[in-house]
Amino acid sequence: MKIRKAVFPAAGLGTRFLPVTKAIPKEMLPLVDKPLIQYCVEEAIASGIEDIIIITGRGKTAIEDHFDTSKELEFLLEEKGKRDLLKMVRDISNLVKFSYTRQKEALGLGHAILCAKDLVGNEPFAVFLGDDIIDSEVPAMKQMIEVYKKYRHTVLAVQRVPKESISNYGVIKGEQVEDRIFKVSDMVEKPRAEDAPSDLAVIGRYVLTPDIFDYLENTRPGKLGEIQLTDAIKNMALRHPVYALEFEGDRYDAGDKLGFLKANVSFAMKRDDLKEEFIEFLKGLKL
Ligand code: UTP
Repeated sequence: MKIRKAVFPAAGLGTRFLPVTKAIPKEMLPLVDKPLIQYCVEEAIASGIEDIIIITGRGKTAIEDHFDTSKELEFLLEEKGKRDLLKMVRDISNLVKFSYTRQKEALGLGHAILCAKDLVGNEPFAVFLGDDIIDSEVPAMKQMIEVYKKYRHTVLAVQRVPKESISNYGVIKGEQVEDRIFKVSDMVEKPRAEDAPSDLAVIGRYVLTPDIFDYLENTRPGKLGEIQLTDAIKNMALRHPVYALEFEGDRYDAGDKLGFLKANVSFAMKRDDLKEEFIEFLKGLKL
């Protein structure tokens, strides 16, 4: 079955990025001049997704407004003859079909995905964590969908991570079945470096089969009262094959301050309208 739908859980509290995330959703922070979540929406569209389901929560209305039409702004831009800006603003709301549902309480990523159960229905779907930005020639989700098409089972995106930072991630134990493709037998959430089963860390892209909802419903909340997606996938891997793809591309954890700064610098460097002056500025810094 074709992967038509993508779920964007965006109801997290963004505590790593306080205070800015007190009133602004993390997903709306800009990479140069576009909110993080729009990069992911564009990746989804470039990967063939037709339907985007965003899980929002309190204080997240800016996301809905961003992908909606804005008649006042369009009128103003039209009056001022700003045709290019008008087109850009219109294009954003015409990108794809959006649906929204709310997670009333931030009870974890797994719980957020469960909130999309009715909207997803009985078909495989993609998941995007909007603060993981992947810069790649072939969109990362497209690479994953290719793997799904071949194996017809859940696919996780993984990235090799140095030992010092492995304890920030969920880490897979897996057997390599093809170049860059692994069959997952276990997953460990945030292991100590010496206990990590590999250096392959799970990052924010998934292709999930709909039976994940049964596993999520049967997953007990962890220590912090949150239902973890990792726990549900781990249980799934005991009964069904689960695959992982070491995707090709550069990934930035833009939900973290340092990752966000790195992403902004490298995306600015790629912009013809900014590159030259920006490089001059960087050269002038006393580093
Ligand atoms: P993170 O843990 O990275 O995001 O969750 P967070 O909770 O927003 O941020 P920090 O860690 O406090 O800084 C991964 C993804 O899951 C979503 C988040 O919005 C993010 O996209 N999420 C997390 C939910 O939608 N609901 C939750 O209850 C938890």
